[in-house]
Amino acid sequence: MSSDPVRDSIQWLRNLYGDRLFLPPSAAPSSSHTASAPAANTAANKTSRSSSPKAPVRSETAGGEAQKVVEATEAQQELPMADTLFPADEGIAPDWEEAQNLEELYQRIHQCRRCGLWQHRTNFVFGVGNPGADIMFVGEGPGADEDRLGEPFVGRAGQLLNKILAAMGLRRDEVYIANVVKCRPPGNRTPLPEEIIRCIPFLWKQIELIDPRFIVALGATAANALLKGNYKMGEIRGRAIPFDNGKRTLIATYHPAALLRNPGWKRKTWEDMQLLMRLYQQWKQQQTDEQ
Ligand code: URA
Repeated sequence: MSSDPVRDSIQWLRNLYGDRLFLPPSAAPSSSHTASAPAANTAANKTSRSSSPKAPVRSETAGGEAQKVVEATEAQQELPMADTLFPADEGIAPDWEEAQNLEELYQRIHQCRRCGLWQHRTNFVFGVGNPGADIMFVGEGPGADEDRLGEPFVGRAGQLLNKILAAMGLRRDEVYIANVVKCRPPGNRTPLPEEIIRCIPFLWKQIELIDPRFIVALGATAANALLKGNYKMGEIRGRAIPFDNGKRTLIATYHPAALLRNPGWKRKTWEDMQLLMRLYQQWKQQQTDEQ
């Protein structure tokens, strides 16, 4: 992450989706949650897959050797900040970025109306867990159960995540769990780019406040939002990706909901979690040795 992750995220989405992203909110596809919204997303994905530039991602395997996985294809262009992405009447405290802790942050942003998703929400699903966690899990966005209860990963996918955590010897309240978008996309569709771009500054702020050493991106939407890339899971899983200028390590793995549909992917997910636990133990040992 550079010194301005919000700006980087806007640049990333602009590279993927072009100026379609910069429509005024009232004209943006997100304002009408009809069947056309997912279609717009799909079309954007189709064009972006073949033509969008990819940011460089360096990774380490379990053995520790550095390996360049994906080459940068072109320099990022200068991006003017688009005021239209952040409407004035957005329900957010103007000083939200100065929040000193998660509770303050929640209080300042939970009435957000930056994108159309607020119109459908029962709850703003902020995040849950240890505010000083070493490991943070990031999913895509709340589903119906999460929207109803106001907590991430409490439905079927959440039950599976709990099992994965238990198998790793971790309790849910030891880690932190959040999502890229805080309000449920209708019908559990993938969040639209303009929804991600308006919401992801809150995730960056959560990461800053929690300061986790490890981030697990659950699924390609979370991984791509965090890495500002356009990768398939197969390209990025199974490795430790230096993140946030090397301050953290990101591990991408399959989303638990995808595992429910494709149980064959569970083995790879478990390998990813074993990699995470090895690196976590090594890091904890280093901390002890340095004391
Ligand atoms: N899927 C997600 O990505 N997040 C949740 O909180 C629940 C399901």
